[in-house]
Amino acid sequence: MEKEILVSNVDKEMKIALEKYEEPKDIKRVLSGMRPTGKLHLGNYFGALKTWLKLQDKAESFFFIADWHAITTSYHDTGKLSDNTVEMMADWLAAGLDPEKSILFVQSFVKEHAELYLLLGMIVPVKWLERNPTYKEMMENLKDREVATYGFLGYPVLQAADIVIYKADVVPVGIDQIPHLELTREIARRFNNLYGRIFPEPRPYLSEAPKLPGLDGRKMSKSYGNCIYLSDSEKEINKKVRSMVTDPARVRKTDPGHPEVCSVFAYHKIFTPSEKVKELEESCRKGEIGCVQCKKELSKILNNFLSPIREKREQYLQKKGDMIEIFVEGSKKARKIAQETMEEVRKAMNFFKA
Ligand code: TRP
Ligand code: SF4
Repeated sequence: MEKEILVSNVDKEMKIALEKYEEPKDIKRVLSGMRPTGKLHLGNYFGALKTWLKLQDKAESFFFIADWHAITTSYHDTGKLSDNTVEMMADWLAAGLDPEKSILFVQSFVKEHAELYLLLGMIVPVKWLERNPTYKEMMENLKDREVATYGFLGYPVLQAADIVIYKADVVPVGIDQIPHLELTREIARRFNNLYGRIFPEPRPYLSEAPKLPGLDGRKMSKSYGNCIYLSDSEKEINKKVRSMVTDPARVRKTDPGHPEVCSVFAYHKIFTPSEKVKELEESCRKGEIGCVQCKKELSKILNNFLSPIREKREQYLQKKGDMIEIFVEGSKKARKIAQETMEEVRKAMNFFKA
């Protein structure tokens, strides 16, 4: 069973992420977003979408494509922004996000995020942003890419606006986002202290990191070129699985294997029924099954999992207009709520109302 943990009040070292909390029974509103940076891969599916799918059945949920956030680091190349947004729509719907159950929208369709971002910008000390670990790290790693922009420094302020504008109390995210969530809580607290209590302090909701390596055994990541995409064809899947790294100690089929070091086996553990996994494990250890055979079985099972997603994806892309309409409608619903919050915010801050 996949264990889920809820983390609240996370400290700077993220130590607390190791503590497991009971799953909350009192979730009121869930919200999360994803930057449209390209097609989704299995790492994204198990790292985020799977949790979203579960939550949309449990609570009022908002999921949005964070297109403004996407350009904080790639403002110099926005050529694919629109296409990536559409691809993300197809990936989400194909994976099972359901507009009947959750509100699916595009960040830039809801201009109120930008207004709140501006207002929050007035109250957030620059120091809070400069000590954000993501910021520090990016400044180190991307020295040559000129991310020392105002927009990038303000990334977590925009993220805070995304969240509090819907008064979301639970935000499903990966562990890397914990500092951003903590900052959101601090920003909400500061706003409430200054102008009166409007915003709840959102709690992160973590799903256990997926034990799903990339084809080469490293973390699955677009920049490593080791991904399996939700959109990959059957042929591509077969080819990719054939290229996966296995136990390097196995040269001949009769060599005893070590499934614990093998990527193929990591996949079997996720996709293959547990009885069968045990069987594979034993025959690998005894040198009875060859890697070629083992991979064939994985291909079959992966394709069983991915082909309905792939087909749905194609269907959505064939009716692009209808698909986009889902997000236009979702954005209208989201916007209505965002507008209500902004009314409250402007009133609390004493803006003149004509
Ligand atoms: N920063 C998030 C990421 O990179 C994306 C994001 C933007 C987000 N706004 C959000 C996530 C609000 C949760 C809530 O994954
Ligand atoms: Fe990996 Fe399967 Fe080969 Fe064992 S038989 S090393 S589990 S691919």
